[in-house]
Amino acid sequence: FLKIATIGGGSSYTPEFLEGLINRYGELPVDELWLVDIEEGLEKLEIIGELGRRMVDKANIPMKIFTTTDRKKAIKDADFVTTQIRVGQLKARAKDESIPLSYGFIGQETNGAGGLVKGLRTIPVILEIADEMNELCPDAWLINFTNPVGMVTEALARYSKHRKFIGLCNTPVGIERGIAKILDIDHSRVRIDFAGLNHMIYGFNIFVDNQNKTSEVFERFVENSILVNMKNIDPMEWDEKFLKALKLIPCPYHKYYYKQRDMLESQLNQYKNGITRAEEVIKTESELFNIYKNSELNTKPIELEKRGGAYYSDAACNLISSIYNNKGDLQVVSTINGTTIKDFPPQYAIEITSRITKDGPVPYKFIDEFPVSIKGLINQIKTFEILGAEAAVEGNYDKSLLAMTLNPLIANDILGHRLLDEMLEANREYLPRF
Ligand code: G6P
Ligand code: MN
Ligand code: MN
Repeated sequence: FLKIATIGGGSSYTPEFLEGLINRYGELPVDELWLVDIEEGLEKLEIIGELGRRMVDKANIPMKIFTTTDRKKAIKDADFVTTQIRVGQLKARAKDESIPLSYGFIGQETNGAGGLVKGLRTIPVILEIADEMNELCPDAWLINFTNPVGMVTEALARYSKHRKFIGLCNTPVGIERGIAKILDIDHSRVRIDFAGLNHMIYGFNIFVDNQNKTSEVFERFVENSILVNMKNIDPMEWDEKFLKALKLIPCPYHKYYYKQRDMLESQLNQYKNGITRAEEVIKTESELFNIYKNSELNTKPIELEKRGGAYYSDAACNLISSIYNNKGDLQVVSTINGTTIKDFPPQYAIEITSRITKDGPVPYKFIDEFPVSIKGLINQIKTFEILGAEAAVEGNYDKSLLAMTLNPLIANDILGHRLLDEMLEANREYLPRF
């Protein structure tokens, strides 16, 4: 008997996940999928539940879909719990992006000030879910997509009694798809060794049909880097000389750091016209739910590809299937470092290509330390994640302020403190520990 509980099941992304489960039903025969949401999300949850039931009927598989606001009932005896919640919903995201912009800083939901405050709102809730799992399904894996995945995984590593947790992101598969597009081949033929932190991963070795083609493919990437991007990030070309010097594939989120001025200028121009990513997503979401409501619809609609999380089901369902089937294949996850990377103590979270078996991920040790060119930035962001995780759990103002000010997207003490105060105030109802 195989039971999955998805917390935040009313998310507009859920049809991705449903499609992934349906396509893999042969190898991953889910008996029950429990979609959980809060009262405020009930209407969306029911729309998703109905669509899910139509998708399952069309595919003619006996997977039962339940919708509920009773999280404990859903978690009880589950084999996998996935979390895709958004504490404060998209309204809070709009503030995470727009308040920093009003101070002249990058407005992004996982990096800089937005990432910090999203972490403060989210971490206590994820830790509560992990505690419930420890009671109600102690053998289940927690698979967390909720951002900021790096800071959340760091918090789980530091504080969770439940030790079976994995952080997950679609950026690595997105980059592999981008590289496949450059090579004009199917993405299933491309595999890249990645290491770093969430939304701060670097691609090292590139394999095509299991053959190491790093140098040839890297050259093609340098000339076509614009094709490796995600829908939620401003498409901007990388400088070719920079890429050649770096000799690694940066992820699209790195543009906030290595092209900070250009990204900020572009965000500020849009912000002047009242546009932030949150506003775009609010529009896309209401279009998506109108489509989902249509009782004729029984597949995932193509419009979902407008979202940055497109194809996250590939990452999610492949991960679950590899644990369930003890496959031992390589996938990129956020997990505990152990003795993998010498730069970090064993308990730190990293994002890295890992071998996935029934016992979870084991990092694949294709490097033993980060190259000096990326060590500094990674360490700085790791410091940010640790301070943010500790601040969230302790309700600690000083640690929040340090996290804010030390972040390279802020790097200003006076403005950092004013910005933090305004953001804490704007999030008051979601920060009971502050
Ligand atoms: C990427 C990231 C996700 C993030 C998403 C945002 O896929 O990996 O972590 O949630 O983008 O996309 P959105 O459409 O919500 O802006
Ligand atoms: Mn992500
Ligand atoms: Mn792939």
